[in-house]
Amino acid sequence: MHAITISEPGGPENLQWTEVPDPSPGAGEVLIDVAASAVNRADLLQRQGHYPPPPGASDVLGLECSGTVAELGEGVEGWQVGDEVCALLAGGGYAEKVVVPAVQLLPVPGEVELISAAGLPEVACTVWSNVVMHAGLGEGDVLLCHGGAGGIGTHAIQVGKALGATVAVTAGSAERLERCRQLGADLTINYREQDFVEELKKETGGADVILDNMGAKYLGRNVDALATNGRLVVIGFQGGVKGELNLGKLGAKRGSVAVTTLRARPVEDKGRIVADVRERLWPLIENGSVRPVIDQVIPMAEAANGHRALEEGGVFGKVVLTAKS
Ligand SMILES: NC(=O)c1ccc[n+]([C@@H]2O[C@H](COP(=O)([O-])OP(=O)(O)OC[C@H]3O[C@@H](n4cnc5c(N)ncnc54)[C@H](OP(=O)(O)O)[C@@H]3O)[C@@H](O)[C@H]2O)c1
Repeated sequence: MHAITISEPGGPENLQWTEVPDPSPGAGEVLIDVAASAVNRADLLQRQGHYPPPPGASDVLGLECSGTVAELGEGVEGWQVGDEVCALLAGGGYAEKVVVPAVQLLPVPGEVELISAAGLPEVACTVWSNVVMHAGLGEGDVLLCHGGAGGIGTHAIQVGKALGATVAVTAGSAERLERCRQLGADLTINYREQDFVEELKKETGGADVILDNMGAKYLGRNVDALATNGRLVVIGFQGGVKGELNLGKLGAKRGSVAVTTLRARPVEDKGRIVADVRERLWPLIENGSVRPVIDQVIPMAEAANGHRALEEGGVFGKVVLTAKS
């Protein structure tokens, strides 16, 4: 089969569409004929040599895919050869075939096209596990999502609205904020021109849940933006990893801070998240309340251009890579 391999750590030009051996499914695993994968920010770090795959994972890039079940490993139940699926992967998605534990499979929901479904598993599992399973967002709560125009943000806006929350987002331009508003965001804040703490407090009083992609750079201001009993969940470090946390301020609000990653979790843990996503989030996609937001679809062999697009900025939602031309 063909897959994107990395000639050496570095720029997008080091991504190459090459011939590699086909994977084969072990016990509890499924072989997928990949229709499409999608680009994640973590892929850019892995390409640069800063984010090695966890032990046992494929060293081919790609944290998600859609496709057709081609072969079942020993003991797999509940799936058939020919089923159209999408999957959360620890790696290996930028390829014509990939092997994945069966517990990380999801059916392609309702009206969603097979190619578009490639952009769902990573955002769905990340947003759901953090905002709902961990932080318990519910009706009437205020959700602040930083980077509202990104892959995670465009999904989080829709999930927040579907659950009856008030959703505030930050983004870097008026045009991107307007698109967030069209997706359902109630309060839009330009992080280049406005103070998000001030705006959020003025309009809502404070956030019950914050989904943060910036890490250290926003730590202090995120604590300031929390409401009483607020939950800050940090999932990205685009603003660095070392910050100062004022425990007095956090304690006065009886607030909490969590920092999580999805990729490094054990298979059982991912299986638990995928099962909850299937049970509680998939119906919201089936009924059209939450849709995949795809900025562009390009051939997987040109994955380098997808990486360049994310690095340059301006992508709204996801970049999808199709395995078959
Ligand atoms: N922990 C996990 O398990 C996990 C899983 C998936 C993703 N992530 C992380 O979550 C983050 C978002 O992922 P993604 O797929 O949505 O990436 P993405 O599509 O590349 O979006 C990144 C976003 O960051 C925003 N941004 C840049 N500077 C900002 C600032 N100063 N304030 C607020 N927002 C800013 C950008 O906004 P503008 O374009 O509007 O400037 C852009 O929308 C990434 O850091 C990713 O690594 C973590």
